[in-house]
Amino acid sequence: MSDEISNINEEISDVDNCGCEEAQICIKNLRKVYKTDDSETVAVEDFSLNIRKGELVTIVGPSGCGKTTILRMIAGLLEPTSGTILIDGKAASGPGSDRGMVFQDFALFPWRSVRRNVEFGMEVAGVPKEERRTRADRYIKLVGLEKFADSRVHELSGGMKQRVGIARVLVNHPEVTLMDEPFGSLDAQTRNIMQVQLLRVLAKTDQTIIFVTHSVDEALFLSDRIIILTKRPATIKEIITVPWPRPRDRADPAFSILRKRILVELENENVMG
Ligand SMILES: Nc1ncnc2c1ncn2[C@@H]1O[C@H](COP(=O)(O)OP(=O)(O)O)[C@@H](O)[C@H]1O
Ligand SMILES: [Mg+2]
Repeated sequence: MSDEISNINEEISDVDNCGCEEAQICIKNLRKVYKTDDSETVAVEDFSLNIRKGELVTIVGPSGCGKTTILRMIAGLLEPTSGTILIDGKAASGPGSDRGMVFQDFALFPWRSVRRNVEFGMEVAGVPKEERRTRADRYIKLVGLEKFADSRVHELSGGMKQRVGIARVLVNHPEVTLMDEPFGSLDAQTRNIMQVQLLRVLAKTDQTIIFVTHSVDEALFLSDRIIILTKRPATIKEIITVPWPRPRDRADPAFSILRKRILVELENENVMG
């Protein structure tokens, strides 16, 4: 093994993992079994993870392994079969305004304007009109859509819709934002722009993000830690602490070495029985 690789292996071990008491999100022994009339699917098994406030954690794993299931349980949209999820020490049962979820298919109101989409959560929460508008406009600007605030969402491109989806969640200042392959449907260039934009927004807000992605490159570019899952049922195969400050350079040789190492682990999961 070359020096460079062994150095990286030392740096990426999960030194950042913290105890449940220090963690903002403390997940213990999470398990989910989907039951239908004639079958049972164990989707998640023995999943435990502690996440600090302000961390950006990505989850990667084979298709169908249980990533969305994990996010939906943290969001409170799906009841775990067993195990516990604590957010700031409180059990996360049912959805709450402390958590926001960005969906892959945007889940926007196509006939509303960008601004009225971003205002939606505040409308539901009864925030006064003027405050709604000020807050919405700030986040619309953060995602670079100020020229389109009055456009209807159905007129926008996929990348722009996704930015509306992100602004709409972040504007409510959730303690925790859950993002399920939010850039999965974007072309490579738009995707890179969105990643930079997301980091820019986060630098100004200190929100905790759990981000599911298919792209190892995206995970390496964005995250403090990468959680690699096994094939179904999802359990944690490895946790990697990404050792570089941001902004990161995808052309850095160390970046490629780590990318390759993670890809090999994922391939092993895909080919194993
Ligand atoms: N509502 C459901 N009922 C039964 N099985 C489900 C349901 N939702 C997901 N599954 C199954 O659970 C497994 C994990 O799904 P999912 O969490 O969506 O995986 P991923 O997001 O990693 O692709 C898959 O085999 C999927 O078919
Ligand atoms: Mg999924």
